[in-house]
Amino acid sequence: MNRLFSMAVLFPLVTTSVLAAGPETHENQPTTGEQAAALTKIQQTAPSEEQITPELKDAAAKLAAQECALCHGRSGQSISPTFPRLAGQRAEYIEAQLKAFRDATRKDPDAQAYMWGMASQLTDPIIEALGHYYEQLKPVAPNPVDSRQVAAGKEIFERGIPAQNVPACQTCHMAQAQGAGLFPRLAGQHAAYLVKQMNSFKNGLRVNPVMQPIMQSFTSEQMEQVATYLESLP
Ligand code: HEC
Ligand code: HEC
Repeated sequence: MNRLFSMAVLFPLVTTSVLAAGPETHENQPTTGEQAAALTKIQQTAPSEEQITPELKDAAAKLAAQECALCHGRSGQSISPTFPRLAGQRAEYIEAQLKAFRDATRKDPDAQAYMWGMASQLTDPIIEALGHYYEQLKPVAPNPVDSRQVAAGKEIFERGIPAQNVPACQTCHMAQAQGAGLFPRLAGQHAAYLVKQMNSFKNGLRVNPVMQPIMQSFTSEQMEQVATYLESLP
């Protein structure tokens, strides 16, 4: 699926869902027929796992073990927060990110240094196969954390920050931050990595019409809080 196309379609859809999901502040906005048709199209064009041949599955597993594991860890469970965890990440989201590295629209310094060269070697079919490979890996549950940061982060994740017009993150990232389709899983991800990504959206190093506006009013403290909460989730 073409990324620009998908984001163009997605943007009005998610905007509608954010508006419709805010119980206190917004009126319900019905999805128009056009948007419903677009959503159906997204679902139809998303590659299903059955479409991936056994040869491609093998090739993806091999590449993951021989190359990607150097940074992203065995079984997609990295140790260093420079390298995001990929185990259980959504296939469609992984696919979109690998294409964003390949076409250089995700451009913070670590992305350029580590992922651009790597992604330039990948074809669309292997990208799809890699997405499904990582999605089916089971993320390792983190150690439980209990702190004021976590409580404050949970509040932001579940309710947003109405005073700053920040929508509830769970609207798109789902109640347990498990993600869906193009909305990434955030649960169990390294907090430092999440904070860095939020800053990249805020300063435009990472281009995304949905996340950039959401992050504009976010403070560093709020980023820390929500990231600490997210890292603590299984
Ligand atoms: C040399 C280290 C290195 C290798 C090898 C590497 N990556 Fe990465 N990868 C990174 C870094 C660093 C980032 C985070 C970039 C950033 O901060 O924007 C990243 C980010 C990603 C992301 C985005 C994750 C997210 O949550 O948005 C995906 C997907 C990804 N890599 C997949 C792969 C795959 C698949 C391979 C093997 C084909 C691979 N990487 C090999 C270093 C590496
Ligand atoms: C309207 C839908 C929507 C809402 C609400 C939303 N997000 Fe996102 N988020 C997305 C999409 C779509 C992406 C993927 C962007 C891309 O493809 O680059 C994303 C990506 C992210 C990432 C990058 C993850 C990674 O692995 O690199 C972080 C971090 C994030 N969101 C945090 C948040 C937080 C915190 C909130 C609440 C304050 C929030 N999001 C609210 C849609 C949303």
